[in-house]
Amino acid sequence: MSTLPAVSNPTLQPDWGQRSLLSVWHPCTQMQHHQDVAPLAIVKGQRVWLYDAQDRAYLDCISSWWTNLFGHANPRINSAIQAQMGLIEHVMLAGLTHPPVVELSEKLAALTQHHLGHAFFASDGASAVEIAMKMSHHYWRQTGQPQKNEFICLSSSYHGETLGALSLTDVPLFRASYESLIKGVHTVMSPDARQATEGMQADEVARLAAKALEDLLQQRADHISALIIEPRVQCAGHMAMHSPLYLKLARELCDLHGVHLICDEIAVGCGRTGTFFACESAHIWPDFLTLSKGISAGYLPLSISLCTPKIYQAFLSDHLSRGFLHSHSYSGNPLACSAALAALAIFESDRVLEHNLALAQSMNSAFAWVQEDARLQDLRQTGMILAFDLKPEWAKRNPQFSGLMHTHALAQGLLLRPIGETVYVMPPYVIREEELAHMSQGIERALDLSLKP
Ligand SMILES: Cc1ncc(COP(=O)(O)O)c(C=O)c1O
Repeated sequence: MSTLPAVSNPTLQPDWGQRSLLSVWHPCTQMQHHQDVAPLAIVKGQRVWLYDAQDRAYLDCISSWWTNLFGHANPRINSAIQAQMGLIEHVMLAGLTHPPVVELSEKLAALTQHHLGHAFFASDGASAVEIAMKMSHHYWRQTGQPQKNEFICLSSSYHGETLGALSLTDVPLFRASYESLIKGVHTVMSPDARQATEGMQADEVARLAAKALEDLLQQRADHISALIIEPRVQCAGHMAMHSPLYLKLARELCDLHGVHLICDEIAVGCGRTGTFFACESAHIWPDFLTLSKGISAGYLPLSISLCTPKIYQAFLSDHLSRGFLHSHSYSGNPLACSAALAALAIFESDRVLEHNLALAQSMNSAFAWVQEDARLQDLRQTGMILAFDLKPEWAKRNPQFSGLMHTHALAQGLLLRPIGETVYVMPPYVIREEELAHMSQGIERALDLSLKP
C-alpha cells in the first residue's frame, strides 16, 4: 500500500514529476534522460495554457501532441461530456448502438458528401490505420484478388507504432528494433516540397514523386492493396509539406491501377490544414480516411476509419466469416463521441474554418523574422501548421538541439517538441493574437539560448 499521503488538491503536491519516474514508463522517451530532470507535471489547463504545480503557465504550442482544437477545459465540450455521462458512459458497440455514435457517423458521412458514408470506430490513431489496412486487403480477398496484400507508403511517413501501422512508418528510429516483426512494404518518394532545387516549384516535386509511384504501380499493382498518404503535411516526418497536386495525381494513379487510396488524416484532419479534411484541398476523396486526435478535440481517445459504400457492401454476406471481424472494447465510446459532436458543433457555430484562415495569416506574420534569421531555412506553413528548420551547418554543430530547445522553451513558458532540427508550432484554434506574439518571441529567445555559435 502506498505510504504517500492522499492528495486532495493536486496543485499543492509539487513532486509529481519525481513520483512519475518511479512508476510511469513515459512514451517515446529514453527514461535514462529523466534522471536529472523529471517530467514536468501539469495539474490543470485553461484554453491554450497548461499549468504546473507551482501555477506556472505554459502555452501549448503543439496542442498536446496535435490533439487539442478548442483549448483545454473548454466549457462547451466539458458540458457535452458531463451531459452524456449522466445518460450512458459506455456500452459495447457490437449488437448495440447509441445516439452519439449514430449522430457522429451521420455528420461525418455528410461532411464527406457521402463519399465516405461508413464509420468504423476504435480508440487510437494506429488502430484506425490497422483497420484501414485490414479492410483494404479483406476487400480484395472478398472480390477475388487475395494476392493484393502489399502496401505503399511515402518516405518519411508516420502512421503509428502498432505492428501493422509501424510497417507503414518510415522513421528508422521507431522501426529499427522491430524490423524482424514487421512485414516489408514499398516506400516511394515523398512529394516533400523542400526537395525543390533552384527555380523548381512544389508542383514539379509532386510530379516527380507521382512518377516514382507510377513506376512502382506499373510493375506491382496486381499485388498492391493500398497506398497510404498523410495529405498535405507529413507531420512526424519533419513537417514535410507538399502540393495538393500530388494527392490529385495519386488518386488518378490508384484509380488507373486498381489500388485503394488511404488518406491518414489523424493529424491533418479537422481543419488543421485549412479545409475540414486535408484531401478536400485537392478535390479528391480517398477509399479510406482515418481520423483521431482532433476529432474528439483532444479530450478522449477516439479514432475512426471512414470508407466508401463500395467497400462496405463487399462485406455484406450470409456468412459471418465474410464480415469485418475486428473489434475494440471502447469502440465508439459515447463520451468520446459526445466530445466529437460538441467539437463539430463549434466548427459550425464559430465558423472555425473561416476564422482559421485569418488566424493562419496572423501566425505567418508573427514568424516573419524566421526568413531573416541566417541560422534557419525552409519556413513553411499549411493552415494552422508552421515549421522551419535549422540550416545543416547549425544542426551539425548542435546535435542536442531538440532537447535543449524543449527545455529553453519551457523556461520561456512554451510547450514545444521539435523534431530533430525542425521547429514547428501547431496551436489550438483558440489562440489569440497576443499569444501568437508571445509564442514567436519566446521561440526566438529559446533558439538563441539553444544554439552554440
Ligand atoms: C498521421 C498519423 N497517423 C497515425 C498516428 C498514430 O496515432 P496514435 O498515436 O493515436 O496511435 C499519428 C500519431 O501521431 C499520426 O500523426
